[in-house]
Amino acid sequence: MTEYFTRFSSRQRIEHACVGLLFIVLAVTGLTQESFPMHWAEWMILAMGGIDRVRWIHREAGIVFTVFVIWHLGTGLWQVATGRARPSIVPTRKDFKDAIMMLRYYLRLSEEHPRFGRFDYRQKWEYWGMLIGSIVMIVTGFMLYFPVLTTRFLPGEIIPAAMMAHGREGLLAFLVVITWHLFNAHLSPEAFPFDPSIFTGKIVRERMVKEHPLEYEESLAKSEEERGASPSSGTDHPE
Ligand code: HEM
Repeated sequence: MTEYFTRFSSRQRIEHACVGLLFIVLAVTGLTQESFPMHWAEWMILAMGGIDRVRWIHREAGIVFTVFVIWHLGTGLWQVATGRARPSIVPTRKDFKDAIMMLRYYLRLSEEHPRFGRFDYRQKWEYWGMLIGSIVMIVTGFMLYFPVLTTRFLPGEIIPAAMMAHGREGLLAFLVVITWHLFNAHLSPEAFPFDPSIFTGKIVRERMVKEHPLEYEESLAKSEEERGASPSSGTDHPE
């Protein structure tokens, strides 16, 4: 019988699904505009109802994405400030040590494998890259949305620069998601062929013990403390 451990709350799963869907809409409507003279891009723009509709969808999705990022940061900071959550995604000195230890492990210079908490150094690196990339997309996106307003405060050259940064960063983000993110989350030897945990919220306990031992041990200790030393309690949900 496979035993599961609850790793993601419904809020986190909904957040991931929303950001994933918005990213797909923005990438499809943005990258087709960027690649417009190419036949495949022209075909896709026509299939989506023409350039005016594609631009409209991109801008509306951009506004929803912006609200979403602000909400994500606001609620996250509020939860940490009020003690409801810990800043487990913030890099610490241990992450740098873990990265070196992992490299030594891969090179077979050491038998010692790092023991990770809720997020390992690769997941943190990816999260912060995505977050900083999103902020660049939002700032440059609004410069392109409101060029006249932008040039009341900044020199005119900023608009072509924003266009270049927005287009290239958009392409980079797309490539990172389809290579790095999909590989780490679904195609790596640990997760292959598909890791459903961000959709179901549950991870096989064996993987949890192997990949996030510190979080697992902490959660067991916490639930035992809460429920008076009952061994099968807490956030842990055997099925
Ligand atoms: C991750 C999210 C996003 C991606 C992948 C993306 C991608 C792109 C790409 C590739 C272009 C074409 C650039 C070019 O022609 O060189 C573009 C244009 C544009 N983007 Fe985005 N974008 C994103 C987010 C946003 C946001 C948040 C906004 C803010 C509202 C925005 C507003 C615009 C505008 C105004 C244009 C110019 C095209 C037009 O006038 O409709 N984008 N985007």
